[in-house]
Amino acid sequence: MKTERQPASDRVPSETECRALIEEHGMLPNIVAHSKAVMRVAAAIVDDLIDPDDVERPLVVAAALMHDITKTRALETKERHDESGGALARSLGMERIAEIIEQHVFLKDFDPEGPLLAKEIVYYADKRVMHDTVVSLDERVEDLVVRYGTTPERVALIRKNLEYARAVEAKIARRMRSGTGGLAALSERADG
Ligand SMILES: [Fe+2]
Repeated sequence: MKTERQPASDRVPSETECRALIEEHGMLPNIVAHSKAVMRVAAAIVDDLIDPDDVERPLVVAAALMHDITKTRALETKERHDESGGALARSLGMERIAEIIEQHVFLKDFDPEGPLLAKEIVYYADKRVMHDTVVSLDERVEDLVVRYGTTPERVALIRKNLEYARAVEAKIARRMRSGTGGLAALSERADG
């Protein structure tokens, strides 16, 4: 069962193509390491789903690898890397990858009862990886508060996003064979 619409002009790059794009866009080594760790967490989730057809594994893997594709240049330009990364993917004919990248910071239209979506897995996996280490949601949020919580408004936004992440976590756990315990143990399975 395919649960996500597939636009007419859409393609999912192979892991090899993703790695070439990462190279081409001069991503900093630490951002590459982060992206690979997010990919391993996301893939571990997909591999533990009760119904493996809930999401397309290659879509999740590629989007996870590419989710910070423009973050390195964003450090200079101060552009929104979620928006510019999405625009880049769209220019390469990768519509669904674009949508996932655009929503990896803030998820839109989250439906706790709806079908599990690839964008939810990538969003969640990103929230579990601090630098290249798999951590709990709480640890990750505290790190974000320290790094990006420059105003009370931004701190409030980061904490509100944590509530979304918890809801996404619950939705994903319900669809995994190993459930909440499996998500907690992701660090062990995703390392290496
Ligand atoms: Fe990002």
